Amino acid sequence: MEHNKKPSPDQNKEEQYLTTNQGVRINHTDDSLKAGDRGPTLLEDFHFREKMMHFDHERIPERVVHPRGSGAHGYFQVYEPMTAYTKAGFLQDPGKKTPVFVRFSTVVGFRGSPDTVRDVRGFAVKFYTEDGNYDLVGNNMPVFFIQDAIKFPDLVHSIKPEPHHEMPQASAAHDNFWDFISLMPESMHMIMWVLSDRALPRSLAMMEGFGVHTFRFVNDEGKSRFVKFHWKPVAGMHSLVWDESQKIAGKDPDFNRRDLWESIEVGNYPEFELGVQMIEEEQADDFAFDILDATKLWPEELVPVRIIGKMTLDRNPDNFFAETEQVAFHPGHVVSGIDVTNDPLLQGRLFSYLDTQLIRLGGPNFAEIPINRPHAEVNNNQRDGYMRQTINKGRVNYFPNSLADGHPKMAPEEENGYVHYPEHVQGPKIRTRGEGFRDHFSQATLFYNSMSAVEKKHILEAFLFELGKVETMDIQERMVRLIAHVDADLSRQVAEGLGLDPLPDHDIQQIQEDLRAQRERIWQNRKT
Ligand code: HEM
Repeated sequence: MEHNKKPSPDQNKEEQYLTTNQGVRINHTDDSLKAGDRGPTLLEDFHFREKMMHFDHERIPERVVHPRGSGAHGYFQVYEPMTAYTKAGFLQDPGKKTPVFVRFSTVVGFRGSPDTVRDVRGFAVKFYTEDGNYDLVGNNMPVFFIQDAIKFPDLVHSIKPEPHHEMPQASAAHDNFWDFISLMPESMHMIMWVLSDRALPRSLAMMEGFGVHTFRFVNDEGKSRFVKFHWKPVAGMHSLVWDESQKIAGKDPDFNRRDLWESIEVGNYPEFELGVQMIEEEQADDFAFDILDATKLWPEELVPVRIIGKMTLDRNPDNFFAETEQVAFHPGHVVSGIDVTNDPLLQGRLFSYLDTQLIRLGGPNFAEIPINRPHAEVNNNQRDGYMRQTINKGRVNYFPNSLADGHPKMAPEEENGYVHYPEHVQGPKIRTRGEGFRDHFSQATLFYNSMSAVEKKHILEAFLFELGKVETMDIQERMVRLIAHVDADLSRQVAEGLGLDPLPDHDIQQIQEDLRAQRERIWQNRKT
């Protein structure tokens, strides 16, 4: 692959002195301080010791998922005031540009793994709004593998390299993953997306993004509506084909990252329109599925996507580590006018992100790292801890107090004091899921049926590649049975491709009857 040759930086420009971290100018950095020509290095060589100490600690833990990512700065503008639906300040004024930082990622591979693997892509956006940071931490697929966060460690353990030999590095093609999936029918909708061309974006500027969960918009009258977020690429959606993506992974593992960087360098700025699907509180039970189930989408023909604004990515980061690596997204970073729901996947995420960042970013002060710092004023009684940057003045670090000079006060709702939506919640303490979570296949079938013949062929080939790598026949057979719940013909083709017996006709008929009866039961129960 040809890359642009660049001239060396201008040698004549005024250079700064090399210094230690204490600001002392260095006069020699090529040899350590020694006792004589060939003698041992001296402990008193403060420059050597400081340089080596810093180097020894340059690596931090990579993210437990989504470690491989690429970032970009930009801005967001709303097209029309959204006042009727949300009081979120950044969604009111079309003249206002809200700065954003975006990190796109793969999920499974390590930090150094290739870009063009078959995988979900993370699509995380930090809006630096005047009312504090809002993070929309999404993916490029609208649904997820599991319904409840308590299954996330199992899902990720199964998909990551196997623990005894740490293989395979960046692909889903292995027994552990398919073993788990074959025992988790709720994952089938997401699996259809992951085995489709959606999992091979040609460019990070050519994929959609989704908030996945159902969130809430709340307006200044306190009225709440359910909302799903979408990002639509202005460049349209384009994918690689499997053969290309494998070759590119070998020839240029940075393919998507390089494309993002170079597009921004030459002024071909990636753009994404923000869309929302909204439903009224009273409509929540009108669907055959539960709107709190993250394995389901809201079909666009039932709830159209309304395009409300645009994000433009126009600046590359200055420093990968300081910005792209140290950025800390969190679905719980919400601003007034946006709230979470009881989606049991989202509820678990609300715990997980801060918890993991506490160790990944070395203590509780990571909100002070420049890329994470809100553009709004921060004023509270949190103090101390590893790597504290802020020098808080004065004697008072508690609330209430009478001693501080202008002590922090509480903001009323009208002044954007964040008030959680007062949803009424009641029920027994139980480990369970609602009835509307139980149909795992209707939308998987809907998705498969919406594919063109070529796209269907790609899905079949992806199943054959993935399951062809599985060594345990029981797992392959369980997958053939699960796929039959999505599409009988696809199941037959997968079985034949793997050299297995397809399911007999009476099994297929039984599966179809059971599914019909289950859908009817769920619908009846939801209506009553
Ligand atoms: C990253 C947990 C589901 C999108 C992460 C990280 C954790 C995590 C621990 C690493 C964060 C860091 O080190 O800063 C979970 C849990 C989930 C879940 C427990 C389910 C219960 C999801 C879903 C989405 C998603 C459904 C999409 C809607 C992302 C993205 C990142 C990420 C985009 C990368 C953020 C970045 O670029 O820094 N997740 N996740 N996750 N997650 Fe999740």
